[in-house]
Amino acid sequence: MGAFKEPHGGVLKELYLGESAAEEEKGKAKEYPSWDLTDRQLCDIELILDGSFSPLEGFLNKKDYEGVLKKMRLSTGVIWPIPITLDVTKEFSEQVKPGDSIALRDKEGVVIATMEVEDQWTPDKAAEAKAAFGTNSETHPAVDYLINYANDIYLGGKLKGIEPPLHYDFRLLRDSPSELRGRFRKLGWRKVVAFQTRNPMHRAHQELTFRAAKQHEANLLIQPIVGMTKPGDIDHYTRVRCYERILEEYPEQTTTLSLLNLAMRMAGPREAVWHAIIRKNYGCTHFIVGRDHAGPGNDENGEPFYGPYDAQELFKKHEKELDITMVPFQLMVYVEDRAQYMPIDETTKEMKVKTISGTEFRRRLREGLDMPEWFSYPGIVEELRKLHPPRHKQGFTVFFTGLSGSGKSTIANALLVKMLENGDRQVTLLDGDHVRKNLSSELGFSKEHRNLNITRIGYVAAEITKNNGVAICAPIAPYTATRRQVRSMIEVHGGFIEVHVATSLEVCEKRDRKGLYAKARAGLIKEFTGIDDPYEAPENAEIVIDTEKLSPELAAHQILVKLESLGYIK
Ligand code: PPS
Repeated sequence: MGAFKEPHGGVLKELYLGESAAEEEKGKAKEYPSWDLTDRQLCDIELILDGSFSPLEGFLNKKDYEGVLKKMRLSTGVIWPIPITLDVTKEFSEQVKPGDSIALRDKEGVVIATMEVEDQWTPDKAAEAKAAFGTNSETHPAVDYLINYANDIYLGGKLKGIEPPLHYDFRLLRDSPSELRGRFRKLGWRKVVAFQTRNPMHRAHQELTFRAAKQHEANLLIQPIVGMTKPGDIDHYTRVRCYERILEEYPEQTTTLSLLNLAMRMAGPREAVWHAIIRKNYGCTHFIVGRDHAGPGNDENGEPFYGPYDAQELFKKHEKELDITMVPFQLMVYVEDRAQYMPIDETTKEMKVKTISGTEFRRRLREGLDMPEWFSYPGIVEELRKLHPPRHKQGFTVFFTGLSGSGKSTIANALLVKMLENGDRQVTLLDGDHVRKNLSSELGFSKEHRNLNITRIGYVAAEITKNNGVAICAPIAPYTATRRQVRSMIEVHGGFIEVHVATSLEVCEKRDRKGLYAKARAGLIKEFTGIDDPYEAPENAEIVIDTEKLSPELAAHQILVKLESLGYIK
């Protein structure tokens, strides 16, 4: 005997057909109408098919859906807190009627499952949001998803599993409930405390989870979410490398790690109950619920959506029926005079207590500041620093803008050469003319084409910046709105320094190196910037260069000094 926990509803619903039946169903599926699963649906279907969502046997039908919203129960009476629905477009829904089968495919067209449609209906999304998430505020990520992204028609029905969705990453760390139950059995684990997380773990988490397991004389399962978490969270690749490192901090044979491809809804109390049900299906006996479990942050008025202990309360109310024990999470703080972590409610006023907030931690990472040993482990900080390198290792884009003949290319070239001479950054120059030749050769100079040209440059520069390189761009980029768009594409990955080469039209025209102004004045070139097409000068450029006073070399130097003062180069 090993893990003995009964699955939710009594039976583990593994919905994959046997090999030959799957082959046969796949053949039939060629004739079925096909639906391409969205990212969210792909996460959901994986966990329906492998039994993580037992007792569900498919996407909810209307009766179950209504029961879940109103009573948090399926029509059988079993507790189920979150509506798991297949939302499709009106056009697709018009191709099917109850009794028909449909093929559900992944992004590559692989048939993951077929579904016999039981019913289809148009949900009242506002009512669903209110019932499931307690709010209609679109600041709540699940409400935002429901109102702005989910399709308008729901199809309910049972699934026949054909092939599990494929993952290329961390394959050995992904388990179905029966695989994990098998592991627990093999290890002889009878009591297992599960820890759910969507964030990197530090010393406080290690302490808390280890204590929870010790208290209940149980083993520990760290089961982080790698499906969809809260927008803006640290990517799962980085997090999983951190989890692998933290595993080394537990006594051998006590703790295991397994990834869960769940699409979180950030539904606070209902989500906590859902998380517990899933862990029960994995054979766990205990589940840790912290302060503000699966909280979505604050609403538009800065108020939290749920009270900090609402999740614990709802869980407590149904704990007996759920048949999995809640381990309430105490906030762990570092007590300096004892050089150890303690739950905050066990500390006294005399004790000197320390914590670092998530915001402060991210600030220190961003600015390359020291991270105290008491807070995290060197291996974890090292992983996270790869994601937030100090500024002089972050990527950035220097974006020149100015009239034709203003001197953008000359200064951009001087800057390129100086940076190459220094040798510690990888630099790419995206000069206006080069881009027009290599990336945008089919484009002209209409507003639409110029915008396309600039957003292409922005896209390439954003990719370079993301990979910690340096992009120097030198197009005319005459429109404020497009420049703003490019700035926001790049700033999520690193620095954006706009340089306005502010040579006046008179001077550009007088220089007229390429003879284009003369042609434009003669009407031989149309839509020429400054002549019969506007140039909207930037108002908030980081640097403005007056080429009538500065040589190209001095201009490049001025930019380097600015980059140094911003910390992008040393
Ligand atoms: S834009 O608006 O940012 O897409 O322009 P850009 O890609 O930088 O291309 C500008 C170069 O193309 C030449 N050229 C013109 N410029 C402006 N308007 C018109 N109608 C035009 N036709 C050709 C011009 O030589 C620009 O090069 P630079 O280096 O700016 O002088």
